[in-house]
Amino acid sequence: MKYISIQEAIKKGKGKVSIRGWVYRERGSNKLKFITLRDSTNIIQCVLERTNFEKTWEEIDSTKIETSMELHGTIKKDERAPTGYEIQVTDYRVVGTSDNFPIGKDFSTGFLSDNRHLWLRSRKMVAIMKIRSTVFGALHEYFRGLDYHEFQSPIIIPGGAEEGPTLFEIKYYKDVAFLCQTWQLYAEAAMFGLEKIYTISPSFRAEKSSTSRHLCEYWHAEMEVAWTDLPELMDLAEGMVKLCFKRVLEKNQLELEILKRDPKVLEPVIKKPFPRVTYTKVLEDLKKKKMKVEWGKDLRTLEEEKFMDGKDVPAFVTNYPKEEMAFYKPRDPKDKKTALCFDLLGPEKMGEIIGGSVRDENIEELKASLKAAGEDVDNYKYYLDTRKYGSVPHAGFGMGVERIVRWICGLETIKDAIAFPRTMDRFKP
Ligand code: 4AD
Ligand code: MG
Repeated sequence: MKYISIQEAIKKGKGKVSIRGWVYRERGSNKLKFITLRDSTNIIQCVLERTNFEKTWEEIDSTKIETSMELHGTIKKDERAPTGYEIQVTDYRVVGTSDNFPIGKDFSTGFLSDNRHLWLRSRKMVAIMKIRSTVFGALHEYFRGLDYHEFQSPIIIPGGAEEGPTLFEIKYYKDVAFLCQTWQLYAEAAMFGLEKIYTISPSFRAEKSSTSRHLCEYWHAEMEVAWTDLPELMDLAEGMVKLCFKRVLEKNQLELEILKRDPKVLEPVIKKPFPRVTYTKVLEDLKKKKMKVEWGKDLRTLEEEKFMDGKDVPAFVTNYPKEEMAFYKPRDPKDKKTALCFDLLGPEKMGEIIGGSVRDENIEELKASLKAAGEDVDNYKYYLDTRKYGSVPHAGFGMGVERIVRWICGLETIKDAIAFPRTMDRFKP
């Protein structure tokens, strides 16, 4: 017996088929049993007539949601069936019986989080996980297509690169160590040998609040490249985002439909260039919109959203105030109050999708910035050392993969963009 997927069976559209999967819905009378079967590809309605199964009717009649089954029968078009086709079952086998499946009665957020291991079977989560997989594939494709090398950095690290308060502390024998927030400082060391590198790996942030865009453990797509300036870096970031959207639109039409996400909303991201504006210009724009921000203050969510209001593609905001920025972002020689950096802000209230910058090469500037940030310069000795031997202009960026998945899928919260979210109030199951 050759089993085919439900999607393949639907494509075939007529004749004999054998499929297997899990009971998604069931209903019946004492003459007929309707089973909607799901597999990883789709769902399909299947009908069993009692007259054909007198001996095993009791088993069929008591089939519960999530029972795993093999079904054999004839498929035909049926407009009334949920996916347009129906299978008249001629033979079947129960593979694994099921208890009363808890999901279906209670859909509260807390309940679904406690039962995440079961909720992962839902059509919604399966659709999201497929799109996520497409995005990971597109990221590898993008960087490998540009001859980047995949480079891995340590997860256990001696000190941070981003904000100190979000470092996760861990016991390291008799010492204290941290979980990495970014691969960046190691990537910069490796850049001197490999020149063009990227990674997709977990990053950790002990965020102090639970929001719709923060996770404590997220997948970070990062790149670092030699001989580059800020405009070129933004070109690379834009190309990466565009390819992710393109691949999802090519491969995941069915998933977007399941998520009720209109593909038309995604199309401008592929077609239109992303605008590039400085932080200072953003403040001017906000002022016109009757929102006053003092120069030097980082943009808050509210302000980012106001600026992005009405835009259908993301925007690069460059040249944030130097003093507000991480220590490695250099001063812009043309505008010394600001740093050579960007944030890519998403439309639809998605906020920051990517953060990137040129890297400071000046050892004294780096030391001063580290001290100003309250860091122990000794912990960064290896990093400063890299600048001593033939430093070159280089730059890089990082994107939270769940941020772009959330945006593509149009999800209310980032928690649904990852299988088992780790947040301030949850690390189980
Ligand atoms: O802006 P961030 O902090 O920049 C860096 O870590 C740089 N060292 C990256 C680099 O240049 N290699 O973080 C980069 C991105 C953000 O733009 C955001 O998409 C994501 O990481 N991010 C988070 N995603 C989910 N949950 C969190 N708590 C996140 N914090 C940052
Ligand atoms: Mg940032």
